[in-house]
Amino acid sequence: MLNHPLEPLTAQEIETAVELLKAVPSCTATTRIISIMLKEPPKELVHSWPQEPVPAREATAVLLENATNAVSSINLNLTSRTILGVRKAPPGVQPTLSLDEQIECEQAVLASPEFRAVLKKHYGITDTSLVMVDIWSAGYYGSEEERTRRLTRPLCFVRTDPTDNGYAKPIEGIRPIVDLNKMEVIRVEEYGHWPLPPESCNYSADRVQDQRSGIKPLTIAQPEGASFSLTGNQIEWQNWKFVAGLNAREGLTIHHVRYYNQKRDRSILYRGSLTEMVVPYGDPKPTQVRKNAFDVGEYGMGMCANSLRLGCDCLGHIEYLDAHLCDSRGRAFTIPNAICIHEEDYGILWKHTDRRLPDTPEGRRSRRLVVSSVSTVENYEDGFFWYFYQDGNIQFEVKLTGILSLGAVLDGEKPKHGSLIAPRLYAPNHQHFFNVRLDFDIDGMENTVQRVDVVADPVDDANMFENAFQARVTDLETEQSALANLNLETARTWKIINKKKTNAAGEPVGYKFIPGDNSTPFASPNAWWRRRAGFVNHQVWVTPYSEDEKYAAGDYPNQCCGGDGLTSWTSADRPIASQDVVFWYTFGHTHIPRLEDYPVMPAAYIGFLLKPNGFFDRNPANDVPPSKIVGNGASLKTCDNC
Ligand code: CO
Repeated sequence: MLNHPLEPLTAQEIETAVELLKAVPSCTATTRIISIMLKEPPKELVHSWPQEPVPAREATAVLLENATNAVSSINLNLTSRTILGVRKAPPGVQPTLSLDEQIECEQAVLASPEFRAVLKKHYGITDTSLVMVDIWSAGYYGSEEERTRRLTRPLCFVRTDPTDNGYAKPIEGIRPIVDLNKMEVIRVEEYGHWPLPPESCNYSADRVQDQRSGIKPLTIAQPEGASFSLTGNQIEWQNWKFVAGLNAREGLTIHHVRYYNQKRDRSILYRGSLTEMVVPYGDPKPTQVRKNAFDVGEYGMGMCANSLRLGCDCLGHIEYLDAHLCDSRGRAFTIPNAICIHEEDYGILWKHTDRRLPDTPEGRRSRRLVVSSVSTVENYEDGFFWYFYQDGNIQFEVKLTGILSLGAVLDGEKPKHGSLIAPRLYAPNHQHFFNVRLDFDIDGMENTVQRVDVVADPVDDANMFENAFQARVTDLETEQSALANLNLETARTWKIINKKKTNAAGEPVGYKFIPGDNSTPFASPNAWWRRRAGFVNHQVWVTPYSEDEKYAAGDYPNQCCGGDGLTSWTSADRPIASQDVVFWYTFGHTHIPRLEDYPVMPAAYIGFLLKPNGFFDRNPANDVPPSKIVGNGASLKTCDNC
């Protein structure tokens, strides 16, 4: 099969890009390559693929000049090996923190005489080998320094021994400030003295005493192999076709999602991606008040992706895809098994028993295809799961796990803005806001978004038993009129339709957007993090497609002063009806920490569902045959709902 034009860059292409970049005169020994990502070809060429012309392979690189604090993005044609153009970013912007900077920052802090002196003064620690320095973004709080220097404000912890869980012992009172361009500690801020919490607590198998027993093996057998096929990053399964990608910034992405129906591949979702995620903390304590990590724009969700070779808990027949990235010095590297692909049994797909035909109940088991990746951003884990179902549903789910961001309190202190977790150890309240960009192409690019509110009819003669309700559908015409939040009162959903394509009922074909759990932000709209994360101001945004509008908080959210991204674009109030539209969804998880979240958090789940709504003329999974009888230990069963 041909390579799909939206497959991510190969290791070879990353190397070609680095060669081209190193020949650019402005790329010097003090230049860092922050990222190299596929520059996606024009949509029209992808929709007509594999017809000629096959688009050239192109890439966009973001460079940071440490000597001058200047940022630029460079477009490269990898096919013809040429530079397409260099775009200087506005002065003062900061690109994502690179992985090398994380490591170098930790070393710089541990080597800093000022930091060592403060550490010794407060804690008597002279051996820094057990001190962990987590790079935390500096953010922006109105100071000149934040607009003119590349900064971080790391959080530090002490392990009890070299492999213990260091997060149990936060160094609360000390905040080193690091200039990453110079890679040096410019000062160490002291906020007071909090003794280290007294107790260690760990989660690893070799440390947890009295592990439970009684768990017998649960084996998923797929004796004939998996039902999906993989060609490069192209995946085919149960009428679905799409491409899975992973890039330095967004992490896992899905592209060109089609479903085979009516004897053709019907386009549904052109691109699905996480554009930003911000974790604002709700504690005004001076040591905690600046914590609000933008995990996509500041840390790079893809750069933080795990290799799932050893850390994947999926069962059954699993295939993996590698991700090819490069470090800030242009050394290509591979994250082996960054994307996991497997099938899961998912209970009942559909069932009916006709009581007059007692021997012929009809029921089918549901199966879903799971495409996932997991990123570790210092203490925290986020798992990203795209699920494809046989009935045309697509689901996106984030699994939040890992370790709480912990702080120290004094004996007897009861934290008002957090939860006491262990003696003298607390976890501040916080929220997690995700923004996902869904570029729908429902049966073509010309789509319209509708808001669907269910309302009760007025009580009048036409509603004599006062039972009537109906769906009120509003076509969204402009960006400003599309801004909205969820509404439980009207069971609000959204529908993306193509007015030029009709279904068997004569209505436009469409997909429904069904939100899951959500939260609104508790910080004031004036809070600095909210000015920078304007995408939390509304849960739904709709924009006309623009190649340059990919990230809800703008291209460079790190240390930005705000106003970029969705808030800025949608202020133009552009028309959005019957054209190529992009649907943006912000969803929040409010985390008031519990004792049960320690020492490692049981996964919390949040996401949304895309459901065909008049896209198919009938249940597309009616053609799923009954399950085959499979031996299962001593008993032999076929049952579709047990
Ligand atoms: Co949390």
